[in-house]
Amino acid sequence: MDRYVIRGGRRLQGTVRVGGAKNAILPILAATVLNRTKEDIILTNVPHIRDVVKMVDILRSLGAEITWSGNNMVVSTHNLSGFAISEKLMREMRSTIFLMGALLGRFGQVCISHPGGCAIGQRPIELHLKGLRKLGAQIREQHGFIYASCSRLTGAEIHLDYPSVGATENIMMASVYARGMTVVSNAAKEPEIVDLQNMLNKMGAKIRGAGTDQIRITGVTQLHGIEYSVIPDRIVAGTLMIAAAATGGSVTLENVIPGHLEAVTAKLRETGVQVREENGRLHVEAPPRLRAVEYVRTLPYPGFPTDLQAPMMAALVRAKGTSIVIENVFDSRFKHVGELNRMGAQITVATDNRRAIVHGVDKLTGAIVTAPDLRAGAALVIAGLTAEGETVVEGLEHIMRGYENLEGDLAKLGADIKRVRG
Ligand code: UD1
Repeated sequence: MDRYVIRGGRRLQGTVRVGGAKNAILPILAATVLNRTKEDIILTNVPHIRDVVKMVDILRSLGAEITWSGNNMVVSTHNLSGFAISEKLMREMRSTIFLMGALLGRFGQVCISHPGGCAIGQRPIELHLKGLRKLGAQIREQHGFIYASCSRLTGAEIHLDYPSVGATENIMMASVYARGMTVVSNAAKEPEIVDLQNMLNKMGAKIRGAGTDQIRITGVTQLHGIEYSVIPDRIVAGTLMIAAAATGGSVTLENVIPGHLEAVTAKLRETGVQVREENGRLHVEAPPRLRAVEYVRTLPYPGFPTDLQAPMMAALVRAKGTSIVIENVFDSRFKHVGELNRMGAQITVATDNRRAIVHGVDKLTGAIVTAPDLRAGAALVIAGLTAEGETVVEGLEHIMRGYENLEGDLAKLGADIKRVRG
């Protein structure tokens, strides 16, 4: 297995470009299934990450024709024949769940294996299923599989008990071809949902309200091919901003939407970092040592993103003072704590597994650590950048799921980081 070898202590400096968003391209690829015409869907700013490779494998297994070169992709779903996703492919990537809505919309039936839990928590899907049932789908769960079928879905009013990102996207895709209007209230407001709306509308759908808590979808009978550019990845951007902050760096990010990063910018400013927006670029200028913050509380957008909780904690371990980090979104997202403590951090997790108390220390020391999941992996890399001596981060397969070239970006900014194969 590949690993990173990092020699800490270098201040990050320079300019780096952020690629397309993982959490936007995955639902967008699912949405390509809804195109029944012979016209292609051309996608640009597609990130080269493992989750996209897996999604492409799944779409090809269903009969899609996909060519992918550089950051451009051409998808033809005209000859799509299958509506059953193999258990093996499904197990490899949980986010295939939102293919349910798209396949149901296209074929009136779908069969997937239950996605189950994952490293960061139980991840139930009852909100997805409740929403699809409200649209008229009949759903059976048996032996770990979920079968859904319908004649033609009919628009409905769906109130989500929680603003789940995946459930909102699934319902949006399922209702594009539904008869009449669907209204989703307490919808998730993440920028990736707005991106999905924009993509679907360009294809001919009629969706309004994404980015607010109420989304209205008026059913249409046909969609068509388009060319579409995926939004930049705010989580990758946030990771690089936090890495710059943790190393006392001075970094400029290109291809970002600063408005998507307001919660991160505000929190970094509390630590003493200066964040400036200049012509659509974000400039981060950090002091030699950060200040602790009273709280970091993860919340649905526009709150502080759960996906940046671990990276932010990695920056706070060396801050002056004590910070409290509260994880409100997932129930098991502190797996990085043990690894950070092995590097000399002083973090204690409350028994409810939702609050971590981070006592700032003067220094971290390099160690061999293992990435337990995608964002926790990024956190360990950030800790390695600030630690004395050598840090080895194992479990790179997690990091590859969501970062195109983390080591390349960091090396470009002056970090001493190498990917060692085998
Ligand atoms: C998406 C993102 C992920 C991000 C998360 C929260 C993608 C591919 N993934 O995941 O990176 O961390 O949003 O911003 O876009 N829940 C239920 N029942 C459901 C569905 C969700 O209880 O039916 C719970 C989950 O267990 C979790 C919370 O709601 O505790 C948030 O989940 P959700 O917003 O659905 O996240 P995902 O779409 O899975």
